[in-house]
Amino acid sequence: MAKKVIGLAVALVLFVGLPLFIKLYSNNKISAGYNDGYQPDQPIPYSHELHAGKLKIDCKFCHTTTDISRHASVPSLNICMNCHMSVKLESPLVQKLQGHFMDDKPVVWQKVNLLPDHVKFNHSAHINAGKQCQECHGPVEEMPVVYQWSDLSMGWCVNCHRKPENNAPITCGTCHN
Ligand code: HEC
Ligand code: HEC
Ligand code: HEC
Ligand code: HEC
Ligand code: HEC
Repeated sequence: MAKKVIGLAVALVLFVGLPLFIKLYSNNKISAGYNDGYQPDQPIPYSHELHAGKLKIDCKFCHTTTDISRHASVPSLNICMNCHMSVKLESPLVQKLQGHFMDDKPVVWQKVNLLPDHVKFNHSAHINAGKQCQECHGPVEEMPVVYQWSDLSMGWCVNCHRKPENNAPITCGTCHN
């Protein structure tokens, strides 16, 4: 008898509770305090609008690891110095950049997009499935100062996974340990 009751309770949680939970969560009816719009001050005012927009430098020229690793990587100064050893030397900002480079002191860029530790996310899986940076980060090439464009909520992830053309997994273990 007791076993049956427990069995029923487990079945209810699995077949009613979880789908309901996903449904509510992915409609953002349950919410957990999101950071979209977050735009921290950066130590050097680096502009994506100028570099990725006007100068059309490819995202992957600077964010080199998006298709091979979990993280997109933020460029080290030698990537900037490909140009700024000779471009715009009269600018105090470029001189500051060169100072860091000569002293071997990395610029401490402030992190913009940040998931909680309990979430597994991997750039390479998404880039190799044909996703564009802008689907998740918005029109970065129009941003003088980059900001968090999506809310990075569970509902946001799950809604995209659910689209038939994506055919991506939505079991809890996909994104949580
Ligand atoms: C499917 C959504 C998605 C796509 C597509 C995507 N990103 Fe991200 N990106 C994220 C999320 C989520 C984070 C936060 C990751 C974390 O905190 O672990 C992030 C973080 C970053 C970071 C900060 C460093 C890091 O890895 O945490 C950079 C830089 C970045 N993305 C650049 C890019 C570029 C460039 C592209 C395209 C080549 C791209 N992203 C494509 C969702 C995406
Ligand atoms: C492909 C060449 C190239 C690369 C790589 C590059 N830049 Fe630039 N950068 C430019 C050009 C061109 C300008 C605009 C010069 C002008 O206004 O005439 C510029 C302008 C700037 C300025 C504005 C200077 C001012 O006072 O107006 C800053 C700051 C800057 N870059 C920082 C960086 C940083 C940081 C990196 C590396 C993450 C980087 N750049 C990588 C070409 C580059
Ligand atoms: C010339 C180098 C360069 C290019 C090209 C470039 N980025 Fe970046 N990106 C940076 C630097 C440096 C930072 C860290 C400073 C900042 O946040 O502004 C950064 C930060 C970011 C962040 C925020 C990272 C975080 O902490 O969450 C995202 C998202 C991003 N870039 C996406 C893109 C996308 C998308 C493109 C192409 C449209 C692109 N970047 C092109 C140098 C570059
Ligand atoms: C723009 C659509 C989109 C968004 C937004 C998105 N994903 Fe995905 N995700 C995909 C697609 C498509 C795949 C399937 C890749 C494949 O074909 O294996 C995937 C696969 C994954 C995988 C499986 C990777 C593997 O190793 O097989 C994980 C984990 C994942 N996503 C986590 C997340 C998380 C966490 C978020 C939110 C922070 C997120 N995704 C947001 C489209 C998206
Ligand atoms: C496609 C990725 C993805 C899938 C699948 C997913 N989650 Fe999440 N989950 C996230 C992300 C991203 C967050 C952090 C943002 C937020 O709280 O909305 C999160 C947050 C949570 C939280 C909130 C934790 C907190 O600190 O507030 C719980 C609980 C949770 N998930 C449980 C589940 C359960 C149970 C399932 C399966 C039914 C599931 N998740 C499936 C991505 C996912």
